[in-house]
This record gives sequence, structure tokens and C-alpha cells, in this order.
Amino acid sequence: MPVCHTGGRGFEPRQPRLNPPRGTTHPAPPATAGGAFVFFGRALTPTYHVPVLADAVRDWTTGGCRIVDATVGGGGHAALFRELGAEVLAVDRDPDAIAAARAALGDTGIRYSTGPFGSAKVLGTIETFRPDRILLDLGVSSYQLDTDLRGFTFRPGAPLDMRMAAGHGVTAADILNTWPEARLAGAFAELADEPRARRLARAVVKRRATAPFATSDDLVNAIREARGPRSGPSDFARLFQALRIVVNQELEQLELALPALRATLVPGGRMAVITYHSGEDRIVKHAFRDWSRSCVCPPRQPVCTCRGRPLGRLLTRKPIRPAAAEVRDNPRARSAQLRAFEVGDG
Ligand SMILES: C[S@@+](CC[C@H](N)C(=O)[O-])C[C@H]1O[C@@H](n2cnc3c(N)ncnc32)[C@H](O)[C@@H]1O
Repeated sequence: MPVCHTGGRGFEPRQPRLNPPRGTTHPAPPATAGGAFVFFGRALTPTYHVPVLADAVRDWTTGGCRIVDATVGGGGHAALFRELGAEVLAVDRDPDAIAAARAALGDTGIRYSTGPFGSAKVLGTIETFRPDRILLDLGVSSYQLDTDLRGFTFRPGAPLDMRMAAGHGVTAADILNTWPEARLAGAFAELADEPRARRLARAVVKRRATAPFATSDDLVNAIREARGPRSGPSDFARLFQALRIVVNQELEQLELALPALRATLVPGGRMAVITYHSGEDRIVKHAFRDWSRSCVCPPRQPVCTCRGRPLGRLLTRKPIRPAAAEVRDNPRARSAQLRAFEVGDG
């Protein structure tokens, strides 16, 4: 299948080619962007997500009968839960993902809810379901990444969209075309650990004065201007991922949703979260650690005025990471980390 070209301006002259010349094999390692896998420059048939850390997820699921897959994507984990005999509630904020999961898995033993997992509507549905397990497998699905029109990819000519719920909210192009330089620099520094964040933000602001950002080419060219011609797919992946996190307000939503999701679990229920970005992992680590403490009062407060008991226990002192064999077979798993928590009995 040819790479979808939606009218980008193309890469600027005298920049190194991103794609290997025709007829050569691709030597570079695969690039990840938000937990999913990109074969850079290779035409991709849109596919759905291969479930990441399937063995760890299966172990964590044991004993679960009513499982919420809060990020169903292509339905890989949901299929696994159903095979284990559980009733599944499948959630995704992307209506395309829900449609594809439904087409793949049908309606037996599985129901669906479209929306962000932290929205009042979805939380209400989850609460009524009374789950004993909740899984969040964050980031984007292979389908989202491989469908150029969704605009998550840095393949040439893709629109700078990146909205998980296509058609709703601001796009990546909107952000690049309107945010002040300092705010852009902050996002590149914080979410992509970009050492040349200020230079990149300056390049964006300078370039948008001539022509608004519209396609992946525009951002790739700005990154190359700021980082030099040796910048490559791993830089693009990192910076595109940062922009995607901003567009979808992923960290803010995760922070708000975690306690609300925990509150829907039945006593003894478990939550597992798979992250692909250090910002996501930090939020999950701190939430789970905080919940497992008996006291969360400020350190110098003489009398405890908080809940005075742990809300449950950490099931993973250290995050579970994929084994080398899984990363070899499924490179999108490379940055995955799973953490799990069990709520108390009462
Ligand atoms: C990595 S994929 C999940 C893949 C899935 N576990 C599988 O095995 O096929 C992440 C999915 O989460 C969805 N998602 C991300 N943030 C979300 C949120 N706040 N609420 C609901 N869905 C979300 C994305 O739309 C995407 O489909």
C-alpha cells in the first residue's frame, strides 16, 4: 500500500532522506511513538494492536470475572480477558477503535462504551458494571499510528491532527500555530526531554509566520532546523509523541481518572496500568504509592487527619517490563511498563 500523501509540503532540499533508497533493506531500528510501533518509511496496512505484556496481564487478571478494558484499542487484551471467561466492558475514546473492536470481538460477553475513561458518562457505566479488574493500556494503537489521516505519524504528508477522538478538540496543527513560543518550549522540554526545546519553539514560531503548520513535513522540517540535519526518526517520534500528549491532555486526564476508576472497583479488585512515557509512569507510580500508605498528611503535621489507613496494596514494587523476546517480536512493547494495585477488602 502506498504511503498516504495528503498534500504536505515535503521535506526541504538538502536534508538527508528519511526513507532508504528503493530496493535497499531498512537498517534502522523501529521507532516507537507512544507505545506503538512504526516501521519508518515502509508502507503499512492498518492493523490492530498486538497486546503488550500479555503474560503479565494474564497473571494480574487471574480470578477476575468482570474486567474493564478502559483502552480497548484493537481489542487484543479484551480478547484475552474473554478467553479467560470474564465479562468485559470495553472502553475507548476513539469511536473507530470501538467499531473495530466490536467488529473483531462481537457482542458476546463484551459490552462497549465510547468516551474518555475519566468522563462522567464512562465512569457511570463502569460503576454500574462493578468491575473486579480494570486495565489501562495507555498511548495510541497501531491502527491510530498506521492510519496516516489520523495524523499521529511523522510519515511524509500526514496531517498534523493527533486527536484520539477524531473531529473533536484542537489539533496538533492548532497548537503549533497558536501557542506562544514559551509554552511550546515548555511542552517540548517537559514531555520530550528536548535539549533544544527553546530553539525548536523559535523555529516553529518563525516558520508559522510564513505558512501555517499543516502536515508532518512542517514539523519534521522545524525539528531538523532546530536539531540539525542529523536528527532522525527517534527525535521525530519523541517530539510527535509529546505533541500528541498535549493534544489529548493525556497526563491531566490520567491523573484525574485514576482515583475515580479505583473507586469503582469492588473490594479486593485490581487495577493495572501499562505506560509508555515517563510522565504517565510517574503519575501511576505516585498514585499507587500514595494509595498504599496509611497516612498522607504533610510530614510535620502532629496529628493525622487523613484517611489513616491504606486504600489497598501495591502489587508491583517495581514495574513489570517486557522480556527481550517480546520486544524482538513486538517492538512497540519496548518502553512498556506495567504497574498494578489491589484495593482493600473494605
Ligand atoms: C495502546 S492502545 C490499546 C491497545 C489494546 N490494549 C489492545 O490490546 O489492542 C491505546 C488505546 O487507548 C485509547 N485511549 C487513550 N487514552 C484514552 C482515554 N483517556 N480514554 C479512553 N481511551 C483512551 C486510544 O484511543 C487507543 O485506542
